[in-house]
Amino acid sequence: MAAEKLTQDGRARVLADGNEIPLLALGVWQVPDGPECEKAVRWALEAGYRHIDTAQAYGNEASVGRALRDSGIAREDVFITTKFYPGSRDPEAEAERSLERLGVERVDLYIVHWPQGGPTWAWDGMQRAHERGYARSIGVSNFAASEIDDLLKVADVAPVVNQVQFSPFEFRRKLLAACEARGLALEAYSPLGTGRHLRDSQVAEIAERRGRTPAQVLIRWALQRGLIVLPKSTHRERIEQNAQVFDFELTSADMDTLDGLDGTGGTDRALEQTWW
Ligand code: A2P
Repeated sequence: MAAEKLTQDGRARVLADGNEIPLLALGVWQVPDGPECEKAVRWALEAGYRHIDTAQAYGNEASVGRALRDSGIAREDVFITTKFYPGSRDPEAEAERSLERLGVERVDLYIVHWPQGGPTWAWDGMQRAHERGYARSIGVSNFAASEIDDLLKVADVAPVVNQVQFSPFEFRRKLLAACEARGLALEAYSPLGTGRHLRDSQVAEIAERRGRTPAQVLIRWALQRGLIVLPKSTHRERIEQNAQVFDFELTSADMDTLDGLDGTGGTDRALEQTWW
């Protein structure tokens, strides 16, 4: 990734529409609404995270909003993402409901959660949500390169991110290259393989050599590959640990070893199997 796309402190990236997005986010997939989610978000904000990634389908937007308000941190200092649930019909109306649940006037990023029913039908509503100021940036998630191309043919406002499952074990090189070539930043969800990649012996070996944890190695790999990265945890010490990733570097030999763990064949697809 070109260095000029990063902000001066190296912790945020400038999207194609000019908006800045912090590289590290707390993901709250599968975190139940209520105290557990509120605490996780509060701890993350205390640990210095300035980007929280939620979704209509997660059912926890209200907790994210409450933790944000209770933190006392200025709204403009925290980047909030939510996602349009494509089982609903109207992205504009659903954005209004998200804003109510979150208790904010706009989100920073609103993305189509997955291309159910095809990659283009929801975009008109996403653009209306953008035009009405409900979201500063709009994007997609779980889109393959071909689906991005289909969308770009009809879009007036282009998507600026594609959020996909991404880690050394799911190193979808062709998808990453396609996103970068089309002006979409790639966001890595489940960067720890929902926990299972933490047990890999090669990841553990690199972690031990660097005096870091496997989670930090996987998050650092994503940062060095130019990605926005969204690790999830509900434990305070892990949330803090996962943020300590800007003070060390993996060598190019470490990066090569990690790259070699890919099991996708460097695909330009977003998923091995769809769930819809
Ligand atoms: P928990 O939420 O109980 O802390 P991913 O980000 O790939 O979805 O992975 C999330 C999973 O990894 C969760 O099960 C989370 O557990 C676990 N996890 C997150 N950070 C760490 C860490 N630093 N050490 C160990 N496990 C972690």
